Amino acid sequence: MTDAHIQNLIDHAITVSQRAYAPYSGYHVGAALLAEDGQIFTGCNVENATYPAGICAERSALVKAVSEGVRDFTAIAVVTRGGGTPCGICRQMLYEFAPNLRVIIADMNGTIHHDLALKELLPYGFSGSDLRK
Ligand code: THU
Repeated sequence: MTDAHIQNLIDHAITVSQRAYAPYSGYHVGAALLAEDGQIFTGCNVENATYPAGICAERSALVKAVSEGVRDFTAIAVVTRGGGTPCGICRQMLYEFAPNLRVIIADMNGTIHHDLALKELLPYGFSGSDLRK
């Protein structure tokens, strides 16, 4: 990926973060998931008065993509105001489809805080192959 591709992915994440529904935490998150075929799927966090029912931005983007029949991904950009990293549940959900995913974490100004592999965020991740052992 070129720097321009990365910045474009971050821009998509910033745009969708503005649509976050986060009246309880006030913490807006945007994610832009790049598929192997070049498509970009975006997602924001959507909270709920029953707190655990809410969904994170990363999973929001992932389920949109999978629902559209897309399962192969190369990178995800995640933006928060402070460059926070994806939660454990999102790491696990992403690992299911893309253990080799590149994860770019930035803030709302587009400044990159981390650029790493999902396997670094989730070492020794559990996958379907473990169930067959
Ligand atoms: N959140 C995300 O969207 N992604 C993460 O990986 C971390 C947390 C959301 C969930 C909740 O709406 C808010 O941020 C505060 O936890």
